[in-house]
Amino acid sequence: MSRLVSFPWTFLEKDLERNTSSDLISDILQQTCLHSLCREFPPAVRYRKLFLSELITRQEAAGCDPLDALYDALAEVVGAGDPTECFKSYLLPGGEAVSLLERVALVSEGTTGLVTWKAALYLAEWALDRRQTFTGRTVLELGSGAGLTGIAICRSCRPSRYVFSDGHPRVLQTLRDNVRRNGLSELPSGAVAVEEMDWTTATEEQITRIGADTVIAADVVYDPVVVEGLVEMLSRILRCSSPEVFICSTIRNPETYAGFKRLLDAAGIVHQVTTGAVSQVFPYSRVQMETLQLFT
Ligand SMILES: C[S@@+](CC[C@H](N)C(=O)[O-])C[C@H]1O[C@@H](n2cnc3c(N)ncnc32)[C@H](O)[C@@H]1O
Repeated sequence: MSRLVSFPWTFLEKDLERNTSSDLISDILQQTCLHSLCREFPPAVRYRKLFLSELITRQEAAGCDPLDALYDALAEVVGAGDPTECFKSYLLPGGEAVSLLERVALVSEGTTGLVTWKAALYLAEWALDRRQTFTGRTVLELGSGAGLTGIAICRSCRPSRYVFSDGHPRVLQTLRDNVRRNGLSELPSGAVAVEEMDWTTATEEQITRIGADTVIAADVVYDPVVVEGLVEMLSRILRCSSPEVFICSTIRNPETYAGFKRLLDAAGIVHQVTTGAVSQVFPYSRVQMETLQLFT
C-alpha cells in the first residue's frame, strides 16, 4: 500500500502508448489486486477502488485493448461495501510479508491502537539496523498497538523472548490475532507473549517477572494525560532492573514532546537522542521522527 501518487504512472502511460495490448495491465493486475497475498489479506476497499479506477483511466486514455479482468476486479470492490477493517501487508527486507488486520479509521473504539503509526515503522527499521540490541534478549514492548514493530523484530532479530503489551482490551484482542496470524504463537512456548499492561496500574512484580533486557515503545508520546502515566511506568521499569530503553516518537506537537522530556527530567531519567542513519524499508514519508534512549 504505497501512496498512489508515488506510483510510476507516467512511466506506465509511456509503456502503454508503445504497446496497446492488454498484457502489461494484466501483469500489473496479477501482481497487485489478484496477487495471492492480496487475495488472502485484502487491503482497504477504498484503496483498491482508487487504484483500479486509476489503472482503468490510464488504460482507456492510451487506447489499449479492454481487459475484462480489470473491470471484474473493480466490480468486486465496488460490491464490497464500506468495511471498517482492512489488511495491510508490510514487506521486510527479505521480501517476507507481515500482514496485519487494522482499522481504516485512525481512531476507533476510543483508541489509537488499532492502526500502525509511522513511528512503529520507523522503530522497526531502526531495530533492523541494530539487531544486536535484540538478538538473544528478552524484549518488552509498551503500547504495541497492531503489532508491526514486534512482529518485524521477532522475524528478523531473533530475540530470546518478546513480550508485546498494551492496556486497551480491543487492542489486545487485535494484537493477539495479528501475532497468531503471522505465525508467532507457534514459536516454542513462552518465547512470544501478549500481556495486558496498563502503565498506570502495572506492578513492579509484573515488570520483574518479565525481566526485560530491552524495553521499546513507538508513538506513545501523543497526549499529555497519557504521558504522565508513561513516565511513571518508565521510572518503575528503570527502578526494577536496568534494561536498555528506547522510545520512538513522531513529534507532532512539540509542546507535548517537550512536556514528556520535562517529566523525564523531573523523574531523574536521563534521555539522549540516538544518532546514526536508519535505512528506510517501508514506503511512508518520514517526518519529525526521534528515538530517545533513557537511563537512570
Ligand atoms: C498511537 S498508538 C501506537 C501503537 C503502536 N505502537 C504504533 O506505533 O503503531 C498508542 C498505543 O498506546 C496504548 N496506550 C495508551 N495508553 C496506555 C496505557 N495507559 N497503558 C498501556 N497502553 C496504553 C494504546 O492502547 C495504543 O495501542
